[in-house]
Amino acid sequence: MAMTVPDSIDVTALKRDFPLLTGATMHGQPVVYLDSASSSQKPTPVLDAMQDLYETTYANVHRGVYELGAKTTDLYEAARASAARFIGAPSPSGIVFTKNVTESFNLLAYSWGRANLSEGDVVVLSTIEHHANLVPWLMLRDERGIELRYLTMAEDFTLDLSRLDELLDGAKLLSVTAMSNVLGTLPPVRQLADAAHATGALVMVDAAQYVPHLPTDVTELGCDFLGFTGHKMLGPTGVGVLWGREELLDAMPPFQGGGEMIRDVRLDGFTPNDVPWKFEAGTPPIAEAIGLGAAIDYLTTIGMDAVRTHEMQLTGYALQTLRDRFGDSITIFGPDDVTDRGGVISFAFDGLHPHDISQVLDQHGVCVRAGHHCAKPLMRVLGVGATARASLYLYNDESDVDALADALDKSAEFFLV
Ligand code: ALA
Repeated sequence: MAMTVPDSIDVTALKRDFPLLTGATMHGQPVVYLDSASSSQKPTPVLDAMQDLYETTYANVHRGVYELGAKTTDLYEAARASAARFIGAPSPSGIVFTKNVTESFNLLAYSWGRANLSEGDVVVLSTIEHHANLVPWLMLRDERGIELRYLTMAEDFTLDLSRLDELLDGAKLLSVTAMSNVLGTLPPVRQLADAAHATGALVMVDAAQYVPHLPTDVTELGCDFLGFTGHKMLGPTGVGVLWGREELLDAMPPFQGGGEMIRDVRLDGFTPNDVPWKFEAGTPPIAEAIGLGAAIDYLTTIGMDAVRTHEMQLTGYALQTLRDRFGDSITIFGPDDVTDRGGVISFAFDGLHPHDISQVLDQHGVCVRAGHHCAKPLMRVLGVGATARASLYLYNDESDVDALADALDKSAEFFLV
């Protein structure tokens, strides 16, 4: 679909902020990085923020009363406030730092799930979810006997909402992705949340692929909980977020026990800390949270509207290029219209195994992911064991897409001729 808003990202200039993208090689070739849905590259301000911390300021947080400890605590809590602003959260207290989105889901299932769900209670998921939004609920089903129901995928790779009310009837929680890591599909979260709330269910959103790529406002999305992760949005690994409405987090029991998460400990019991620290047992990912704060500042300076516009234009170019070059030989799993999807392009290529494609692309410096993408139930729906997946971010441009298409040509030549 033609976009009317001009792209305001100068990718050539922006790439200079990413040392790996300008300096690294693979098999002697410049790196064409098309695997950001798996993990993004990191710009210099993020690397500098973490290095500066360790070289000039670092101490543990919420403990030492000396200056270094107090300064590090301020930086850590400032990162929490940045994360809150970035997703439109009413207050930093609703931001719990976790290890990643997987841990955010496990926290929710363990704490909220075990406090609120018992045999026969219903959780509604969808068949396009990542394993992180499936396995914790399957574990709870095995332990508690809860019932899991699934929204299914429609022919056009969107969610089939025709049975939504029936599936939500009597449900306690709806937990869905805001953007599929395989299809790029952007489910209508607000509509789903309104329908869930009308039946009394709470709503958790997997925003691992959404927050890095689209402007996010938890109030507009209408959800009660939302998870995202640092490493897919220019930040480091080891830090993620579970955002929750404060009154819900307040009412939830702790997840892990240990230091930091308590107000008092006696030999016969303990009193938990306030949120969000109640859920941050032990020394947290301090430098990682501060690095995430720097990534948020970087994305905020560029502007998430500009990121989204750039990615829609580039996704449109990629879909068109792959279809023009490879016609019926390529099957793309995902919506056609770029306004309905993000820049995740999963595909099958006639006669070629995704791992073979990925191996040949590797020889040409092109990084894509091949496999089930931690979405095995969705692979079964698609009728494939694996796909190849190219995923775009703000530092990609048409030259990266052209390099992918050229390398795909070479794969076809290598395996099929
Ligand atoms: N969830 C990440 C992906 O989709 C790792 O690749």
